[in-house]
Amino acid sequence: MTQAPTPTTAGPFPQRVFSGIQPSGGLTLGNYLGALKRFAQAQDAGIETIYCIVDLHAITVWQDPEKLRRATRELACGFIASGIDPARSILFNQSQVSAHAELGWVFNCVARMGWLNRMTQFKDKAGKHAENASVGLFCYPDLMAADILAYHATHVPVGDDQKQHLELTRDIALKFNHDFGVEFFPIVEPVIEGAATRVMSLRDGTKKMSKSDPSDQSRINLTDDADTIAKKLRKAKTDPEPLPETAEGLKDRPEARNLVNIYAALSDQTVDQVMAEVGGQQFGTFKPRLADLAVAKLSPISAEMSRLMQDPAEIDRILGQGAARADAIARPILQKTYDIVGMIRSR
Ligand code: TYM
Repeated sequence: MTQAPTPTTAGPFPQRVFSGIQPSGGLTLGNYLGALKRFAQAQDAGIETIYCIVDLHAITVWQDPEKLRRATRELACGFIASGIDPARSILFNQSQVSAHAELGWVFNCVARMGWLNRMTQFKDKAGKHAENASVGLFCYPDLMAADILAYHATHVPVGDDQKQHLELTRDIALKFNHDFGVEFFPIVEPVIEGAATRVMSLRDGTKKMSKSDPSDQSRINLTDDADTIAKKLRKAKTDPEPLPETAEGLKDRPEARNLVNIYAALSDQTVDQVMAEVGGQQFGTFKPRLADLAVAKLSPISAEMSRLMQDPAEIDRILGQGAARADAIARPILQKTYDIVGMIRSR
C-alpha cells in the first residue's frame, strides 16, 4: 500500500487502518513483506494506523507463558524495527484492552456456526483432531472481527491467507447492522496488495512460508543472520530452467515465481520491472543477487530488533502507552454497542 487506500464501502466512516500479528514464534519474511512493510507504508502515507500484537489469539493454541511474554516483546521490537513509530501509530498488545474480548463475545452471538465451520484456517490448524481443538480456535475469527470493529477501522492490510477472515468480519458487521437496524459498524476493506501477498516456502513453491513449518530451511526469519539468509536462498528449491524473459513465463513455475515476487517486494518494484532486469538469468546468477538484496534489507531490521530487546522495560512502557490510546478509542464504541444491544449501563 504505497498510496493511501481510497475509502469505498466503508461509507461515512473516516479512514482508519487496523491490523494485527500473533506473537507465536518468530517473524518470517512472509510477515515482513505481507504485513509489516505495508503497515509502515500506511503510517508513512499519513493515515491513522493502529497495530496490535494479538496475544489473545495466540493462546488459542498452547503457549508457554514465559515464551509468550518474550515473543510479545520481540514482536513489538519487530514492528518498531520495521518502521512503525509508536508516536505516529498506536502499537499495543491486545490483552491490555479489554474491549477486544468483550466485543468478541457479542460477535460470538452474531456469527453463525455455519459461517465458522467454513473457515479453512480452522480446518488447517485443527487438522484431523478438531474434537481436541480449543473452542477459542474455532471462534478465533469473531475475535478478529472485534479487533477491527472495536476501532471502526475501515482498511485492513493483510496477506492473502487472511482474506476469508476479513470476509467474515464484513458478514458480522452487516448482520449486526441489519439485526439492530443501525449503520454502526463499517464494512471493512481488505487491503491485499503488492508482489508479496503470499510468500511461499523456499522448499515448496506451492506451500505458504510459515513460522509453523517444521523445516527452518523453508523460511527466512527476521532474526536470521546474513550468512543464514544467503545460505537459505542459495539452497532454495528451483527448477532447472533459467528465469523466463517475461512475467507470463513464471505462470507454471511456482518456485521461480516466488523468488521473483520476493525480489520485487524487497526492491519496491513490480514483477514486470524485475523481469526487465533479470529475465533470462540462470539461478546461479539470480540467487546471489537476491541474497545480497535480502541481506541488505533485512540485516538492519534484525540488528535493530536485537538492540531494542535489550530494554524490555521500555518495550512494556511503549505497549502500555499504546494500550491507553487504543482503549480511549475502543471503549466508547463498545459502550455504544452495549446500548444498541440493550444492556443496562448504570455506572
Ligand atoms: P499472522 O500472525 O499469522 O500473520 C500476520 C500477518 O502476516 C501475513 N502473512 C503473510 N503474508 C504473505 N506471505 C506469507 N507467507 C505470510 N504469512 C503471514 C498474514 O496474512 C498477516 O497479515 N489472524 C491474523 C492476526 C489478526 C489480525 C486481526 C489481522 C488477528 N486480528 C485483525 C488483521 C486484523 C493472523 O493470524 O496473522
